[in-house]
Parts: sequence; structure tokens; C-alpha cells
Amino acid sequence: MVGGGIIGLAVAWRLARRGVDVTVYDPVSLAASAGGAGGAWWVAAGMLAPGGESVYEKPALAALLAESARRWPGFARELTADTGHDLGYDDAGTLSVALTADDVAEASRAWRRQRLTPTVLRDLEPALSPRIRAGVHAPADHQVDPRRVVAALRATGVPVVPQHVDDLGRLDADRVIVAAGMGAAALTGLPVRPVKGQLLRLRGEPGLLRHVISGYVDGRHVYLVPRADGDIVVGATQEERTDHTVTAGGVLDLLRAAVDLVPALAELELAETLVGHRPATPDNAPLLGWLDARTVVAAGHHRNGVLLAPLTADLVADLVVSGEAHPLLAAFDPGRFTCN
Ligand code: GLY
Repeated sequence: MVGGGIIGLAVAWRLARRGVDVTVYDPVSLAASAGGAGGAWWVAAGMLAPGGESVYEKPALAALLAESARRWPGFARELTADTGHDLGYDDAGTLSVALTADDVAEASRAWRRQRLTPTVLRDLEPALSPRIRAGVHAPADHQVDPRRVVAALRATGVPVVPQHVDDLGRLDADRVIVAAGMGAAALTGLPVRPVKGQLLRLRGEPGLLRHVISGYVDGRHVYLVPRADGDIVVGATQEERTDHTVTAGGVLDLLRAAVDLVPALAELELAETLVGHRPATPDNAPLLGWLDARTVVAAGHHRNGVLLAPLTADLVADLVVSGEAHPLLAAFDPGRFTCN
């Protein structure tokens, strides 16, 4: 297994549970991830929101997202049972809210649920601004803490070798799985590009927010994800850029939108600014399947790496063990981007 992020570790754990002898190669330790060297999972907010993020996706990807969301509770239960780790899995649900009349019009294209009035929204989430015009409650759109998930996956007993792999041919293995996020491009020649996201972490007290808030604010989309320890993750920009710069404009946009949604956030400590790169493909859908007779790819998950981890793990483990692809994988064959 090349890649020890959430996808690589989840697939490796599922393979190990099926009795497969698996080794993960990843040069970045958990400690180095905390220092900023980690993959997209270190930065990810951990929203498990097929309803919130998939509404404009093609049907095959929407089906993949929905099925993976359905598998998350079982995946979390089993991982906690195997490791004793608390994953920060939170099923309070998501409130999608809109600030202005134009924002309500934009949000209405995605909302499929009963519209809630500002009074009902503030009963559910008292910290919301009284300026919010409308919203919906998506109780099945949960969240998990990706840093805790990766720490748990690293504790499953699957060996992780701290080594950079730049040539798949040199690995002594019958089968090779490439789950290296952005690194998949150089290893496979497949078109994986970085989509920059800037995020913030605000340090608060637990309980300020009960739900994940997904907000439409003056034409911008922002999300607020409350962690059990009181931190609130504010995300995210979406930029076709490769740099790691935290920009004044990025921070300004995120903070302005966050405080418009929840005014009390202005009092919190700005504890972290973060930059990550979502590994994306030309059609923004993942690469899941055989690249050649020895190599499987599980990469290019773009905005959905955390959400898709359980299903990717199950289906790629099945593929490696049985050789047969689940019908859900048909639309995500890496061969759609190769010439032969
Ligand atoms: N899944 C949220 C993001 O990529 O910003």
C-alpha cells in the first residue's frame, strides 16, 4: 500500500481483517503531520454530508457518496472496537442556512427538505445570527474528526514503513495499491491535480454549536464544524492553485462569513490557519480500480476523501481479494483517463 492517509490506511485495515498480509508505505509520521506535512486528511473538516455536498454531482458519484455515508456508523463502530479510539463521530446532523434573499435562492437549488423559519433554526441552534433568513435540517449529515480516525487506523496494527516510494516496480509485493493522494499523479501518470483549500480553527468552549453549519453567505459557501473539544473548523476556500500560502483574503472571507452566521465566533481565539490540497481528477470523481494486472488505484477523492473512506476500503479490499469489481466502481475506472 503506497499512502498512509485516511484512504490508504482504511483499505489496509480492511485487507488485514480479511487475512491479507499488507504493509503501508508513507514517509510522514503522525507527529510530522501535526507539523504541517500531512496529507489532505490532516486539514479536512470531516463532514459526512452526501446531501450537502453531492447535490450537483453526477448520479454515479452521488450513489457512491450515499452508500459510503450509510457505511460510516458501522465502520466507526468496528474501528473503535478494534482500537479503543474515540473517532469524534457526531450524529447531531447539519443545518444548512442562508443569509440573504439571494443566498436563499441559491440554497433552494440544493435544499430538498422542509424549509425552516429563523425562529425554528434558532431553537435548534441558539448561536445562529438573527439575520439568517431560512434553512433546512439534514439529520443524516454527520461528522467525524479525521485526525482521530487516522490516529485510530494507525493503531490497528497494520505495519507502516516510513519510506517514500517513487517507483512501484521496486516494491516487493504481489499486488500494489496506490492511495497516495496527490502523489498518485507521479506514481501512475494519472491526471490528479491539487485544489487548494484554506481553513481556520477557532478555539472555543464545547457546546457553542450543536450542529455542523453549512452556510450560504453573500454568495459564498462556508461550513462550521464543531469538535468535541470546543474547536470550530471553518472552511474552506476552493482554489485551482498549488501554493501553501495562507492569504489575507482567504482568512478575511472565511472569518467574515463565519461571523455573519454565528456572531459569537468573533470572540474566539484564531488558533490555526491551515492549507491543504484536495487531490482531484478532470471529472472531479475518484480513481478506483485496476491500473494494470498488479496495481490498483484508490485516489483522487477531491472533496470527499473522508466521506468515501469506508466504501473505498470495502470495495478496494474486495477487488484485491476477489479480483472482481463491484458494480458501483464501474464509473470510476482509472482507465477512463488512459489511452489504451
Ligand atoms: N469536503 C469539504 C471540502 O473539501 O472543503
